[in-house]
Amino acid sequence: MNKVQFTETVLRDANQSLIATRLPFSKFEKILPVMDKAGYYSVECWGGATFDSCLRFLDEDPWERLHKIKAAMPNTKLQMLLRGQNLLGYKHYPDDVVKKFVERSVKGGIDILRIFDALNDLRNLEVAVQAAIDNGAHASIAISYTTSPVHTLKKFAELAKDMVKMGAGSVCIKDMAGVMSPKESSDLVKAIKDAVSVPVVLHTHCTTGLAFMTVLKAVEAGCDVIDTAISCFSGGTSQPATETLVYALKQLGYGVDVDEKALIRINSFFKPVRDEYLASGLLDPKVMATDTQALNYKIPGGMLSNLISQLKMQNAIDRLDEVLVETPKVREDLGYPPLVTPMSQMVGVQAVNNVLQGERYKIIGKEVKAYCHGEYGRAPGKINPELMKKALGDEKPITCRFADTLKPEFEETKEKLKGVARNDEDVLSYIAFPQIAEKFFAARKAKEEKQVKYTIEAVEEE
Ligand code: CO
Repeated sequence: MNKVQFTETVLRDANQSLIATRLPFSKFEKILPVMDKAGYYSVECWGGATFDSCLRFLDEDPWERLHKIKAAMPNTKLQMLLRGQNLLGYKHYPDDVVKKFVERSVKGGIDILRIFDALNDLRNLEVAVQAAIDNGAHASIAISYTTSPVHTLKKFAELAKDMVKMGAGSVCIKDMAGVMSPKESSDLVKAIKDAVSVPVVLHTHCTTGLAFMTVLKAVEAGCDVIDTAISCFSGGTSQPATETLVYALKQLGYGVDVDEKALIRINSFFKPVRDEYLASGLLDPKVMATDTQALNYKIPGGMLSNLISQLKMQNAIDRLDEVLVETPKVREDLGYPPLVTPMSQMVGVQAVNNVLQGERYKIIGKEVKAYCHGEYGRAPGKINPELMKKALGDEKPITCRFADTLKPEFEETKEKLKGVARNDEDVLSYIAFPQIAEKFFAARKAKEEKQVKYTIEAVEEE
């Protein structure tokens, strides 16, 4: 039997999916030495929304957080999630910024970068992947999973081959909406295993209740690494439970290196943390339950709740059924993009507009125009020519990578932040989230000045 390895997500995706990424370093610091000896393939602990949340809500320097995690877990591979040319945000950054960001992440302790693009346009991954490799890290390239007439097993297998050619050390199937079925995962893992020889990783969510079955079928088809979350932070919109899969897969005879005793300690540690968030209301028990709506409508749960709140705001919740019929049509017109951020918002807003305006594409969102213009990358399928004409008029879409049109930004920003930014990491925080970083720098300075004052006063009193 083959070996199955585990990536623990409690510090990143589980934290992000269940409690809006509000876990401060101080709440998990003490368990890191135990996690370090649990035998995980990797611990996903950075990237995604953690960076933004640290600066915006937790008053933490995200870089310092990474350095502290690394110091407490020297034996475990640390993993981050990176949106290719978008880094941790939603816009495209110039290449010099992407290279610098990856370099500082790897130097700061990241061993594995999971890099993806919403449209699976590999041109948007090239620079980040190359930078990861140049800095000695493992680049795991992820396929944004979706189903559509243009997303065939053959296409996915070709995509995986191209990823390996680019230097992927592993290929990850990223089912961000938790809609991948056991049959689909079995077929897809087989197709990818036949196409490439690097390890295959599966990332899914429990949202629709499919995840345990989907993971098991993937493992049976040869999947090498699975993403799981320690049980008290698992289920619902999070990953399937680590302990459950360790138990089941061991019994089936798979090689599993994870230490079950360590898992007991880790879960006992996080249980009271979870209870705190339940008590404060930040953790809504609803997100821990199963919700099959995404299967009925073929749209992710987060997108559905966005559509509902958009319609409610416009006093038009009675039009929901029409919007749910319109959404897949808009997606088809756009060439079947995977419904992941930012595409899910783009498709949703356009579908709502099309219904409420009483005429399709009477108003076209500026994001949809930019998408038609090629600014997000290549559409997976063909964009409806009529929509193209309405969106662009006589203008031709760009054929190059959008980042090729961007000027370098890092050195200029560094110069601008002289006296404010203390290192390259600060400059990168600012480029990623300018206003929030500025506020954070100011608060940091104020805090330190206060401390200095206290120290002086203390001395004077003596
Ligand atoms: Co996820």
